[in-house]
Amino acid sequence: MTAPHLLSRWHLEAGLLALYVVDFLALGGKIGLSRASVVMGCVLLLLVVCSRSVRTELLPLLHRRHRLRLTQLRLHLALKERAPVVWSVDSHPAGELVTLAVHIGSSIPELERLAPVMAAALRARDVKVYGHREDQSLVDLVVVRRETLEREVNPVPLLGRYEPSLFDCVPLGIDEVGRHVVIGLVGRHLLIGGEPGSGKSVTLSAVLAAASRDPNCDIWCFDGKLVELAAWRPVAERFIGADVAEANEALLDLRTLMDSRYEEMEARGRRKVEKGDGYRTVLVVLDELAFYVANGDKKQGALFAERLRDVVARARAAGIVVVAATQKPSTDLVPSALRDNFGYRLAHRCATREASDTILGSGWATNDVSASSIAPKLRGVGYLLAEEGYPSRIRTMHLDDATISVVVDEALRLRGRKR
Ligand SMILES: Nc1ncnc2c1ncn2[C@@H]1O[C@H](COP(=O)(O)OP(=O)(O)OP(=O)(O)O)[C@@H](O)[C@H]1O
Ligand SMILES: [Mg+2]
Repeated sequence: MTAPHLLSRWHLEAGLLALYVVDFLALGGKIGLSRASVVMGCVLLLLVVCSRSVRTELLPLLHRRHRLRLTQLRLHLALKERAPVVWSVDSHPAGELVTLAVHIGSSIPELERLAPVMAAALRARDVKVYGHREDQSLVDLVVVRRETLEREVNPVPLLGRYEPSLFDCVPLGIDEVGRHVVIGLVGRHLLIGGEPGSGKSVTLSAVLAAASRDPNCDIWCFDGKLVELAAWRPVAERFIGADVAEANEALLDLRTLMDSRYEEMEARGRRKVEKGDGYRTVLVVLDELAFYVANGDKKQGALFAERLRDVVARARAAGIVVVAATQKPSTDLVPSALRDNFGYRLAHRCATREASDTILGSGWATNDVSASSIAPKLRGVGYLLAEEGYPSRIRTMHLDDATISVVVDEALRLRGRKR
């Protein structure tokens, strides 16, 4: 770093220091150096105590500049010549908001891949990378330093803000930096896992809240416990309770629907169902996979597993979406061949790292992404992984019974039906 460059980065500090030294020497010439140091010390103290602008403007500015340089130094040590240039560092509810300029030759996706490296360098829990829409060379980096998911997520702002569509607008909750998490499900199934009481059924209700208010979507519920999804029964086309034989018949019907839809699409030269093309979407919500696959009659359980695997593997392009929850994320229930067909995976708190990996995919726990690290009191918190990318820590919204009842009434009105 050249001397002018160094000076331009430290000009404020250098100017203040120079001012101090000049005054100190001038005063020292008159009253002696030791007295001058006492007087200057008192003057500094008085300035800090009495001057509001020193307290509220100068000191925070110096602190921000110090954080900026520290951030730049740490990123430089971690990324060497790929390190982006740090423009500013401000406070953020999650920790810090750092604005960066991407190094020429680098890109936002590359920075996203480097997020874990930057998090380690900045000694943070996580960093999130958000590109500026109007200028791809500028990036906001949210450095997550504290737990921000302790508070329950109120569903009202999320439900009120979005026009729901199973295609591209299913609000789930918020992420660690307070942004709304909104996903599109057509073309991607969602697998949810977690120990008892971790928030799976509540998350299913969040998905159902969006699907029920999308009048183009038919809902099929499979509820291994019968009572978990009961509140959604009025809006469901099919509702299957704790009966594996009935569930198998329903899956057969679903397969018939899927096959006939593909035949029709082939005749029309279509490859997949798209928004606005007249096909209705179908949301299949399955609470408690283990009940259907590993409860009682082995033959029926194996048949269910086979039919579900087939639907999950083939139904995506037909506009049929499966959202399944499992209390026991083990490989016999969720073999990797089944899991890999779920484009979205959400791991609520799991008892072990292995259980977390069963949902997210093997290897994440060794990268320190494990739902076993979620505190038991943080119900509804989980790691959401989209097919590509890095798992994001989110908290799903909590719809209580009264809110579900309001949503169901609205959904029935939109569908022109009565309870
Ligand atoms: N997102 C959330 N926000 C706040 N509280 C939640 C959330 N999710 C779950 N809870 C709380 O945890 C309780 C249990 O949640 P839920 O019934 O969804 O667990 P589960 O994983 O389905 O359990 P089980 O496997 O026993 O069915 C809820 O009644 C609610 O009080
Ligand atoms: Mg449940």
